[in-house]
Amino acid sequence: MSYAVTLIPGDGIGEEITQAMQQVVEASGVKINWDVQSAGLKAVQTLGSALPEATLSSIRKNQVALKGPTTTPVGTGHKSANVLLRQSLDLYAAVRPVKSVPGIQTRFDHVDLILVRENTEGLYTGLEVQVTPDTVVSLKVVTEKASTRIARFALELCEKQKRKKITIGHKANIIKLGDGLFLRMAYEQAQKYAQVQTEDCIVDALCMKLVMNPERFDVLLLENLYGDILSDLCAGLVGGLGLVPGANFGDKEAVFEAVHGSAPDIAGQNKANPTALIKSAAMMLEYLGEKSAAENIENAVNKALSHVASRTADLGGAATTEIFTHAVIKALA
Ligand code: NAI
Ligand code: MG
Repeated sequence: MSYAVTLIPGDGIGEEITQAMQQVVEASGVKINWDVQSAGLKAVQTLGSALPEATLSSIRKNQVALKGPTTTPVGTGHKSANVLLRQSLDLYAAVRPVKSVPGIQTRFDHVDLILVRENTEGLYTGLEVQVTPDTVVSLKVVTEKASTRIARFALELCEKQKRKKITIGHKANIIKLGDGLFLRMAYEQAQKYAQVQTEDCIVDALCMKLVMNPERFDVLLLENLYGDILSDLCAGLVGGLGLVPGANFGDKEAVFEAVHGSAPDIAGQNKANPTALIKSAAMMLEYLGEKSAAENIENAVNKALSHVASRTADLGGAATTEIFTHAVIKALA
């Protein structure tokens, strides 16, 4: 049995960590026919579009994709390939499991939470207008439909993964209409899942509670911007962006990708930690029904990480991307 999966290596550290991920998946014994497509900066330069039609139709055909990070210019330039991808395929739910890794020393040993982020609206619709020469308005879009389906998604995830509690982050004290609607729809859905304990927390206080006592959180439900910011914050609780995987789900397609970006500061130096992308691939294998291969990869990665000598620089080690990757493959064997 083999699977057809769209692969977008991306740019920055994308190529390096994608190669590492492919080697590990191959060593797991699962056969994947990678359909390599482009997106982001490179696609803009070569094909004139951050998300070429060929990439989109490949994902529509295969229904599963694995994506490396793509660079988006700040304050100018093309629209983010990620935002385009999530909006074009209506990949409305981002799921980011954040879990302490045994042996990776942080202030906490037992973080085990899943962040669920609304992926299609909020401030990410890109609806911005210059109203006067010195004033810009950025519109935050919140709909009943998107708020309801992300709440339902998060609650169903609690059921499937036997999670007990959900915390809704918001700023409905200030953004009374928009965040108010998000919060109201979440509680409306929560009534149908009596076994899941539901609470809400104003997002700035939630940040403080997360950095002081993250072990008390189980599932976080957040709109787009808060979910983006808190994903990186939560990554910092368990050892950094190099470790945290993710997935974007729609009703038909699923695109797996790390939380981190293209890390231009270390690109091309054989320094990047491929763990987050490898764990994203493990999530993908589980989604494809290859549960034991997914578990084997997860265990092999953790085993490699337990040896200081195979850790990359972001974890205080001196290993290259390649040395770490070989350690994972050795642990798989
Ligand atoms: P970033 O996540 O690329 O990097 C932040 C910091 O974490 C950097 O110091 C980087 O070296 C480090 N880091 C990230 N991933 C790492 C890894 N695997 N191994 C070791 N160190 C790692 O965020 P930044 O610098 O804010 O953004 C860079 C570019 O990435 C921007 O153009 C941004 O738009 C894009 N981006 C793309 C994403 C995607 O394609 N899904 C997600 C986030 C940002
Ligand atoms: Mg982000």
